[in-house]
Amino acid sequence: MYSYTFADYKDFWGNSIVAYTQDELKQQVAKAAVEYVKEGIIGVGTGSTANYFIEELAKVKGRIEGAVASSEATAQRLRNHGIKVYDMNDVDSLDIYVDGADEITSAMHMLKGGGGALTREKIVAAVAKTFICICDESKYVSVLGKFPLPVEVLPMARSQVARALVKMGGRPVLRDFTTDNGNVILDVHDLTITDPVKTEAEINQIVGVVTNGLFAARPANILLLATADGVKTVTKK
Ligand code: A5P
Repeated sequence: MYSYTFADYKDFWGNSIVAYTQDELKQQVAKAAVEYVKEGIIGVGTGSTANYFIEELAKVKGRIEGAVASSEATAQRLRNHGIKVYDMNDVDSLDIYVDGADEITSAMHMLKGGGGALTREKIVAAVAKTFICICDESKYVSVLGKFPLPVEVLPMARSQVARALVKMGGRPVLRDFTTDNGNVILDVHDLTITDPVKTEAEINQIVGVVTNGLFAARPANILLLATADGVKTVTKK
């Protein structure tokens, strides 16, 4: 279901005459997300779109008590804007969690973790009542998996997990990166993920996996999608 939240300029025939850069689209969707910020403590995600959201959030920070961050980078950015950062363990529930995604489908299943914060993102998402995903339209896909699937792994299990992922048909590549939790990430290429709930559970069953970047068991509730025709609000079909 689509509804428009931003007006756009059209030519005589109704075609869009406004060309936005990807960064402008991210800014627009970040602005739209701030409309969902009411009060209390909110969850804030990680990545370039989430960073634009933090900029917009800073303008209305008087409305909220503070935020829970899904990464050290986000926590630092929030503090720099004078927004109080709470430890996840001190918060029972969150009304909203706002974060980007690397891919999302109409079923609201997401592939995340391009920025390496997938595990903390999943924890904050689990506590939130409403997950608001903010994306530009390049992220809206019919099938997940073109973007390599990040899997956070305990360092000593790296090779054993990689072998198990190969058996599942994937091509794991070790990222030159250490997560906020001190672990490594395998980016799994060549997966066509037709049953994200099943694949998420299967990968999480491999011994040594902390979590993987499929957010299907806990999908988004609302997708704010920035397009050339404005920001569309998409909810599950
Ligand atoms: C961070 O770990 C990711 O899950 C991000 O949410 C995702 O990579 C989207 O990032 P961008 O907004 O930078 O595309």
